[in-house]
Amino acid sequence: MKFNFSLKLLLVASTALAAPSIEERTTAVSRNDIIGPKNSFKPLPETCKRHKVCHVRSHGDGKDDSDNILDALRTCNNGGRVIFDQEYTIGRALDLQFLKHIDLDITGTMKFTNDTNYWINNAFQITFQNSTTFFKLGGQDVNIYGGGTIDGNGQVWYDLFTQNATLQRPILMGIIGLEGGSIGPLKLRYSPSWYHIVANSSGVVFDGIDISGYSSSGNVAKNTDGWDTYRSDNIVIQNSVINNGDDCVAFKPNSTNILVQNLHCNGSHGISVGSLGQYAGETDIVENVLVYNISMFNASDGARIKVWPGIVSELEASLQGGGGSGSVKNVVYDTMSVHNVDWAIELTQCYGQSNQALCDEYPSNLTISDIWFKNFSGVTSTKEKNKIATLVCSSPNVCSNIFAEDINVVSPSGYNQAVCTNVDDSLLQLNCTK
Ligand SMILES: *[C@@H]1O[C@H](CO)[C@@H](O)[C@H](O)[C@H]1NC(C)=O
Ligand SMILES: *[C@@H]1O[C@H](CO)[C@@H](O)[C@H](O)[C@H]1NC(C)=O
Ligand SMILES: *[C@@H]1O[C@H](CO)[C@@H](O)[C@H](O)[C@H]1NC(C)=O
Ligand SMILES: *[C@@H]1O[C@H](CO)[C@@H](O)[C@H](O)[C@H]1NC(C)=O
Ligand SMILES: *[C@@H]1O[C@H](CO)[C@@H](O)[C@H](O)[C@H]1NC(C)=O
Ligand SMILES: *[C@@H]1O[C@H](CO)[C@@H](O)[C@H](O)[C@H]1NC(C)=O
Ligand SMILES: *[C@@H]1O[C@H](CO)[C@@H](O)[C@H](O)[C@H]1NC(C)=O
Ligand SMILES: *[C@@H]1O[C@H](CO)[C@@H](O)[C@H](O)[C@H]1NC(C)=O
Ligand SMILES: *[C@@H]1O[C@H](CO)[C@@H](O)[C@H](O)[C@H]1NC(C)=O
Ligand SMILES: *[C@@H]1O[C@H](CO)[C@@H](O)[C@H](O)[C@H]1NC(C)=O
Repeated sequence: MKFNFSLKLLLVASTALAAPSIEERTTAVSRNDIIGPKNSFKPLPETCKRHKVCHVRSHGDGKDDSDNILDALRTCNNGGRVIFDQEYTIGRALDLQFLKHIDLDITGTMKFTNDTNYWINNAFQITFQNSTTFFKLGGQDVNIYGGGTIDGNGQVWYDLFTQNATLQRPILMGIIGLEGGSIGPLKLRYSPSWYHIVANSSGVVFDGIDISGYSSSGNVAKNTDGWDTYRSDNIVIQNSVINNGDDCVAFKPNSTNILVQNLHCNGSHGISVGSLGQYAGETDIVENVLVYNISMFNASDGARIKVWPGIVSELEASLQGGGGSGSVKNVVYDTMSVHNVDWAIELTQCYGQSNQALCDEYPSNLTISDIWFKNFSGVTSTKEKNKIATLVCSSPNVCSNIFAEDINVVSPSGYNQAVCTNVDDSLLQLNCTK
């Protein structure tokens, strides 16, 4: 799509497994040229020329292709393009943090095995929220494109999760420790859990990602967030379609300078800051976030900020925590249309807890300041009746400078009431009721 490298074939060596042939990219594509309409907070690192090509051969019979994949990536590392144009099976947890100046050109399909016992014992552990990943991909200057499919084979996990609430279901795309990258176009299907974690990374743009994967049994595909950013800086997510059942995008602890634009989200929990403050004794920072031009369909929320109370609490086995500190600062939601969404705007400091009195008694240790919600339009769902927004801080001392303007959202029956508690009503162009 936008990653239309112009390639000039200089020499084709043999087609034997992973034997590099030599090609030269005649035009270096700048990551900064594909970002728009808004600019990233900082420039992204440039990519450099690739000068060799490797083809990855598939066994073609559902046997694990990990060795072929590793072989090709090693051979073509430091200046190559690796072509995945067949159907591959991945049955091993791959540590791909050694990548440097390499392109993964995926026009075929990569599918992870359904061997849950193997993955439970071998997927990469991420301490945060007890998550795991099928692979960890990191290094420097990595581009992944081609429009092919990465399939997490999630059904077996959706079914197993109903029997085990603490089951660690692997995240499909573990982007961990990547400095400089462009990812997309790609189709991502049936992730057992989140579609992406972007951790310990900087200067990465996701462009043209198509996410979908519904359960075919009665067991719903849960926690299928589109993206979760964590300990990452200067990330762009744009021009993508997300059909899922949890956060469309979530900014987890220590996400800074993040631009999200031109997304079509369907069936999600909205674009969320958090949850934050889940771990007592930890400091969570989310700062400088711009969320622009989002269409939000059939969701629980449009724009959402979710923070745990100032005390450890447990709502259910898979949702426990609270007491952490930190800050959310300079977050802008600009231009969002909502269609069948429960809350156009939701801000809570009582996440993971249904007892508001407890949250009022132990106000959140996380401050929220300099937040803008502007130019929202559309119609909510019937769930919250006449209400379209809820902004409830646990104390007036922990929230400041929260603005809403041009919020042209109504409920299906034409009302636009908002719940505003412990926030400065005079900054909110909302129909606040107490
Ligand atoms: C797992 O995959 C194998 C081969 O792809 C298939 O034969 C088997 O039925 C699958 N098992 C489950 C539980 O889906
Ligand atoms: C992580 O898993 C452990 C062991 O299952 C559990 O004790 C802990 O509460 C979990 N933490 C979170 C945040 O889910
Ligand atoms: C649930 O899954 C986790 C691993 O993901 C495992 O450690 C635990 O033993 C499982 N619990 C049961 C009851 O099977
Ligand atoms: C990120 O980097 C830190 C510090 O080097 C390390 O402890 C952590 O395991 C890395 N990975 C993730 C997912 O945070
Ligand atoms: C997040 O950043 C804060 C402030 O720099 C730091 O204290 C905290 O340890 C970081 N948290 C993680 C999970 O890296
Ligand atoms: C907003 O996003 C949609 C895709 O969801 C796109 O078609 C449209 O061109 C974008 N608008 C602007 C101003 O970029
Ligand atoms: C949303 O997803 C549902 C399937 O759950 C689909 O029927 C519907 O067409 C999608 N709508 C949009 C606007 O993407
Ligand atoms: C999603 O939203 C679209 C547009 O509002 C609607 O046509 C469709 O029926 C909805 N799908 C579901 C599954 O609610
Ligand atoms: C407000 O949002 C609408 C789409 O809902 C868009 O057409 C318009 O350009 C936006 N206005 C501004 C000032 O950004
Ligand atoms: C958290 O807030 C409580 C008051 O609700 C306060 O007593 C405590 O010192 C705070 N902890 C931190 C780490 O800021």
